[in-house]
Amino acid sequence: MWQQLAWLLLLMLAGGSQLEELTNDSEQSYCTGGYYNDTILQDNSTFDYIVVGAGGGGAPAAARLALAGAYVLLVDAGGDPSLFTKIPGMAVMLLGSENDWAYPTISNNVSCLSSQQQQCRFSRGKCLGGSTSINYMMYTRGNRRDYDDLGMKGWSWQDLKPYFLKYEGLQDLDKLPLTSIPYHNTNGTMKIEFFGNSGNSWHSRIAQGFQALNVPFNPDVNAESEIGVTQVIGYVYEGERMSTARGYLARGDVKRVLKVAKDTQCTGVIFDENNNAIGIEVMNKEGSENRILRLYARKEVILSAGTIGTAQILMLSGIGPAAHLNSLGIPVRADLPVGDNISDHVLPLIYIPVPRGHDAPRINPFSAYSNSQDLIKWCKSRTGTLASNGVTDITVMFNSHCYDFDQRKLIHNSSDCELPSLQFIHSFIEYNQIPDNENPFQSTTGLNMDIIQQLSATNKNQAIIVATPVVLRPYSRGTIRLTSTDPLQHPAIFPNYLSDERDVEEMLRSITILEHLVETPEYVAHNASILRLRLPGCPEYLEDREGYWTCYIRHLTYSVFHAVGSARLGAVLDEQLRVRGVARLRVADLSVLPKLPRGNTAAAAIAIGERVADFVLNDAAKIVTRG
Ligand SMILES: Cc1cc2nc3c(=O)[nH]c(=O)nc-3n(C[C@H](O)[C@H](O)[C@H](O)COP(=O)(O)OP(=O)(O)OC[C@H]3O[C@@H](n4cnc5c(N)ncnc54)[C@H](O)[C@@H]3O)c2cc1C
Ligand SMILES: *[C@@H]1O[C@H](CO)[C@@H](O)[C@H](O)[C@H]1NC(C)=O
Ligand SMILES: *[C@@H]1O[C@H](CO)[C@@H](O)[C@H](O)[C@H]1NC(C)=O
Ligand SMILES: *[C@@H]1O[C@H](CO)[C@@H](O)[C@H](O)[C@H]1NC(C)=O
Ligand SMILES: *[C@@H]1O[C@H](CO)[C@@H](O)[C@H](O)[C@H]1NC(C)=O
Ligand SMILES: *[C@@H]1O[C@H](CO)[C@@H](O)[C@H](O)[C@H]1NC(C)=O
Ligand SMILES: *[C@@H]1O[C@H](CO)[C@@H](O)[C@H](O)[C@H]1NC(C)=O
Repeated sequence: MWQQLAWLLLLMLAGGSQLEELTNDSEQSYCTGGYYNDTILQDNSTFDYIVVGAGGGGAPAAARLALAGAYVLLVDAGGDPSLFTKIPGMAVMLLGSENDWAYPTISNNVSCLSSQQQQCRFSRGKCLGGSTSINYMMYTRGNRRDYDDLGMKGWSWQDLKPYFLKYEGLQDLDKLPLTSIPYHNTNGTMKIEFFGNSGNSWHSRIAQGFQALNVPFNPDVNAESEIGVTQVIGYVYEGERMSTARGYLARGDVKRVLKVAKDTQCTGVIFDENNNAIGIEVMNKEGSENRILRLYARKEVILSAGTIGTAQILMLSGIGPAAHLNSLGIPVRADLPVGDNISDHVLPLIYIPVPRGHDAPRINPFSAYSNSQDLIKWCKSRTGTLASNGVTDITVMFNSHCYDFDQRKLIHNSSDCELPSLQFIHSFIEYNQIPDNENPFQSTTGLNMDIIQQLSATNKNQAIIVATPVVLRPYSRGTIRLTSTDPLQHPAIFPNYLSDERDVEEMLRSITILEHLVETPEYVAHNASILRLRLPGCPEYLEDREGYWTCYIRHLTYSVFHAVGSARLGAVLDEQLRVRGVARLRVADLSVLPKLPRGNTAAAAIAIGERVADFVLNDAAKIVTRG
C-alpha cells in the first residue's frame, strides 16, 4: 500500500513525460522495474540443471553453472523486484509488501506477545534476488569460528574464504586500513560500498556512546576482528541496492545463457524409480491461468528456496520426518530431520526517544513520502538521503560476557571475547512520522495497535531511535512442518523464540547495556532514555525492573529474519550439500547451516551458492573423465 502511494506521488510530481525522461536515461530503466528476461516454459522441457529459488544462494548457483556452459533453468515463485527494493532508504517499507512472503507463524505464547495475534513476523523476499532484494543490506560475514567450529570437512573458514572473496566487489578498499587488504576482493560480481550519507547526527552520537562504554571503533568487521562499533559496508552500488538479482542475473553474460522463469513456484521434486531426482513440478502463472508443468533436469536439481521454501519442497517430495509425512499420507522417500531445530536471530525492540532534531533530515522510510523531492532526486541521480540506510549502517558487535557491568566497560580478558554474543542494530524514526501513518506503520511492523498508539504519542514531539540488540547465538529451537499436502498452503512455522531461558537472560544483559548507553555523555546531552511501554500483565518498571524487562522482552520480541538449519549439513545433507538417501539433489541456501553465523547472513548464503556450483561442476567433470 505504501508503495502504490509513493509511486502515485512520484507520478503526480514528475508528470508523465518527465517520468519517461527519468527512466529512459538510466541504463537498464531501473525506475520502471522489469529488467530481467523471463522464460516461457514448455511442459516436459529438459535442462542440464534446474535451480529452485533465485535468492541469496540460488542466483549465484544458477549463474555460475550457466557461465560454465551448462543449460540451466532458474525458477522463482516471485517476479521482478519492485522499484522500491532498489532504494536503500526504503528498506523497512518492504516488510509486508508484495515482495514479501510474510509467512504466518505459530505462537509459542512466550514471545512476540505484542505482535498481532501474537504471531512473530516472518519476512522473506518473494522476487528475483529473494531476501537480498528486501533485506537491510548490511554486509557482515560472521566469525571465522562460526565455520571452524562446525567441524565439517570442507567447511572451515579457510575452505570457505575463497568463496566469500570470489563474489566480493568491494569499491572502497582505499577507505579501509591496509591490514584489511588480505580479507577483501575488489573485482567480484557483488559490488559493495559504504552507504550514502544520511546526514543524521545520531550516526556519530551512537558510535560515540558505545565508545564511551569502551567499545572500540572497528573500521572493518570483515577482517581480523568482528568486535567493536563500525560503519558497515553495504550491498549497495552507486546509490542502489545490490541484490543477487542485480549482481548475478542482470549481468549481460548471464542473461545470454541462463533461463529464468518468474512467477513459477516449485511444488515438488520428481524422482525416478531409483530415487534419482530427475526434475521438478511447478505451478506457473500464464496470465490469470495457473498451469502445472513438469520440467526435467538431465544432471541435477538444486533447491535454493530458503530455509522455509526448501524445507517445504523437500517434505512435499517425501523427504522429511517419517512420522510427520505419514500423518499427511505422503509416501516417505527418505526419513530425515528436515525442518527440525531451526534457529533464528532474535531481539527485543527497544525505543529511545530523543528530541526532535533540527539537524536530522527526514530520512526515515515513513517520511519518504512527505519528502517526494528525495524520491525524485534518487530516481534522477541515485543520491540524497534515500541512498543511505539511515543510521542502520552503524552496527556494534561484542560478547556480553566481556562487558564489566560494574565498571560499565567492555574488556578483553579471554579469547572468547572475539566471539560476539550481541549485535546492536539501529534505525531512526524522525518526530511526528507515526501519528499520521499508524496503519502503514502497523502493517510493516506487525505490532498491535496498542503499541503503535503508545509509540505514536511519543513520536508526536520526539524522534525515536530504535535500538535492537540481536542475540547472535540463541539457544531456542523451532520447527517447520507442512500444514497440508497442498503446496500453495504456507507451511507451519513455529519459530519458538525465547523458549530457552538463556536467550531471555542475554536480552536482559543487552538492555542493561543500553541503559548504560543512554547515560553516556552524548545521550545525556540529548535527554535520551529508554521508553517504558505499558504492557498488559507486566509489572511497572519502578516496582520490579528485572520483572518488567523480562516481561517486555517476551512482548516486543522480533526477528532479523535469518533463520537457518531446516536442511542442515551433516543431518539432512552430506558435506557436498547432497540430500541423503536420494541422488542428484542438492540444497544451497541458508537452510544448510546447522548454526547461525555471528553476523548478518546474506554473505554466507551467497558463498554457499558459489560453493555448490563448484561441487556440481567438479562432480560433472569426474563423470566426463570416467566416461
Ligand atoms: C527483512 C530482512 C532483512 C535482512 N537484513 C539483512 C542484512 O542487512 N544483511 C544480511 O546479510 N542479511 C540480511 N537478511 C538475511 C538475508 O537476506 C538472507 O539470509 C538471505 O537472503 C538468505 O538466502 P537464501 O538463499 O537462503 O533465501 P532467499 O534469499 O530468501 O531466497 C529464496 C528464494 O526462493 C524463492 N522460493 C521460495 N519458495 C519457492 C518455491 N516453492 N518455488 C520457487 N521459488 C521459491 C523465494 O521467492 C526467494 O526468491 C535479511 C532478511 C530479511 C528478510
Ligand atoms: C508431457 O508428458 C506427459 C507424459 O508423458 C504427457 O501426458 C503430456 O501431454 C506432455 N505434455 C506436452 C505439452 O507434451
Ligand atoms: C498457546 O496458548 C493457546 C491458547 O491457550 C494454546 O491453544 C496453545 O497450545 C499454546 N501454545 C503453546 C506452544 O503452548
Ligand atoms: C580478480 O582479482 C583476482 C586477484 O587479483 C584475480 O585472481 C582474478 O583473476 C580477478 N578476476 C577477475 C574476474 O578479473
Ligand atoms: C535437534 O535437537 C535435539 C535436542 O537438542 C537433538 O536431540 C537432535 O539431535 C537435534 N536434531 C538435529 C537434526 O540436529
Ligand atoms: C572477564 O571479565 C568479565 C567481566 O568482568 C567477567 O564476568 C569474566 O568472568 C572474566 N572472564 C575471565 C576469563 O576472566
Ligand atoms: C533536555 O532537558 C532540559 C530540561 O528539561 C532542557 O532544558 C534541554 O533543552 C533539553 N535538551 C535537549 C537537547 O533537548
